[in-house]
Amino acid sequence: MAPQLDAYFNQVDSMAESFIDRLAKAVAIPSVSADDDKRGEVVRMGKFLESELKALGAHVEARPLGKQPGKEHLDLPPVIVARYGEDKNKRTILVYGHYDVQPALMEDGWATEPFKLTVDDKGRMYGRGSTDDKGPVLGWLNAIEAHQKAGVDFPVNLLMCFEGMEEYGSEGLDDFINAEAKKFFKDADAVCISDNYWLGTEKPCLTYGLRGCNYYSIEISGPGQDLHSGVFGGTAQEPMTDLVRVMGSLVDTHGRIQIPGLMDLVAPLTDEEKELYKGIAFTMDNLYESLGSQTGIYDDKERTLMARWRFPSLSLHGIEGAFSAPGAKTVIPAKVIGKFSIRTVPNMEIADVNKLVFDYVNKTFAALGSKNTCKVIEQHSGKWWVASPKHWNFTAAAKAVEKVWKVQPDLTREGGSIPVTLTFEQATGKNVLLLPMGSSTDAAHSINEKLDRRNYIEGIKLLGAYLHYVAEEPMKES
Ligand code: BES
Ligand code: ZN
Repeated sequence: MAPQLDAYFNQVDSMAESFIDRLAKAVAIPSVSADDDKRGEVVRMGKFLESELKALGAHVEARPLGKQPGKEHLDLPPVIVARYGEDKNKRTILVYGHYDVQPALMEDGWATEPFKLTVDDKGRMYGRGSTDDKGPVLGWLNAIEAHQKAGVDFPVNLLMCFEGMEEYGSEGLDDFINAEAKKFFKDADAVCISDNYWLGTEKPCLTYGLRGCNYYSIEISGPGQDLHSGVFGGTAQEPMTDLVRVMGSLVDTHGRIQIPGLMDLVAPLTDEEKELYKGIAFTMDNLYESLGSQTGIYDDKERTLMARWRFPSLSLHGIEGAFSAPGAKTVIPAKVIGKFSIRTVPNMEIADVNKLVFDYVNKTFAALGSKNTCKVIEQHSGKWWVASPKHWNFTAAAKAVEKVWKVQPDLTREGGSIPVTLTFEQATGKNVLLLPMGSSTDAAHSINEKLDRRNYIEGIKLLGAYLHYVAEEPMKES
């Protein structure tokens, strides 16, 4: 087994430039799922994956998901599903990733063109989607290719599921996974998702929990059209004034959610759990480095990790119609839409959170005594996920980390959300593992997103090694 891995690893090293080239091609496709007018690019990115997978000899299907709910003129991008290998004597691993990305504009403050992979002299590869999630998705393809070129037998059958709407709440995917669990995905013995990050820059981790995400908008309208503030200021009730007050009442400066009853839904902290945080390799400097400032809420690592992994948070994201462009414009916006989300944790149920949010927003708005109209809408929701790391899927991944990175991984939860993780677990009934490639400084969703060359290339080795160890693990469900 070890010699085979060596041959594979050497092959990955010798193909590094072509793997970076493949990532550059993917980053060059601006597959932004949140922009309606970029939908063609998202589809183009799906086609790119389809053709790369075909060239590797995989069986590939681009499966339609129908129209986008609420935007009936728009088709959802297809899910790209693929199968590589059909050997009944091998295990089957189902991997998931997403080929859509967050929006990115040069004027947001990027130092380099966001849709052009730019590698600096320290091997930092900048580009939107480099770490989230094109690098990891291509990691699986690269692993297949390096096995082929090295003449090393691929140790498992690989099922792949790559979606194009993850950053928009995975529209349409739950139904697809449920429908295919006993069809395309029926042979899966375990699931692996590479779509998160290390806690720092040196120590890898395996992740067994994610927070959920309930996303809302509050629409406040009144005047029939935008107004001149010199003529109407002081005589018209202003939607923006109402919205800012309602949004400002949701959360305080110290991150405390102001919605009554919400914290009562959170599972209590046990002494045993409290102990876990001490052993995790994470420092406040890790936080400050990825924050790019020292403006954290807590001064200690334990509370910071707990606030990220096991307590809910509420973030305000923006206001549509708010004339956020630079310059002094004396306008009264007629309609504004404020956006916020709540990251949820055990034991918060989506419906219970919704009820508390709707009641609180409506009550807070009513208390303003405004003649404007307020509507609060749930945009999308995905539930939290916490799994057992005591499973051969995790054992195999831990061995792969030790082989590639020469260190035992931390077992972590995460604050971000991948809505379909729980769906895969429930639909297939199999263990799900999160196996990250990138590091805490990669700045997913931010300006200057990057993936370090080292994380990409060693990450390709890691994904391949994981599959080899999976093939060797005694098959006991636990
Ligand atoms: N890769 C992230 C998920 C993630 C973020 C995992 C941070 C671990 C740490 C994923 O692409 C993502 O950003 N998901 C969205 C989902 C949301 C739209 C429901 C998120 O978390 O905002
Ligand atoms: Zn992602």
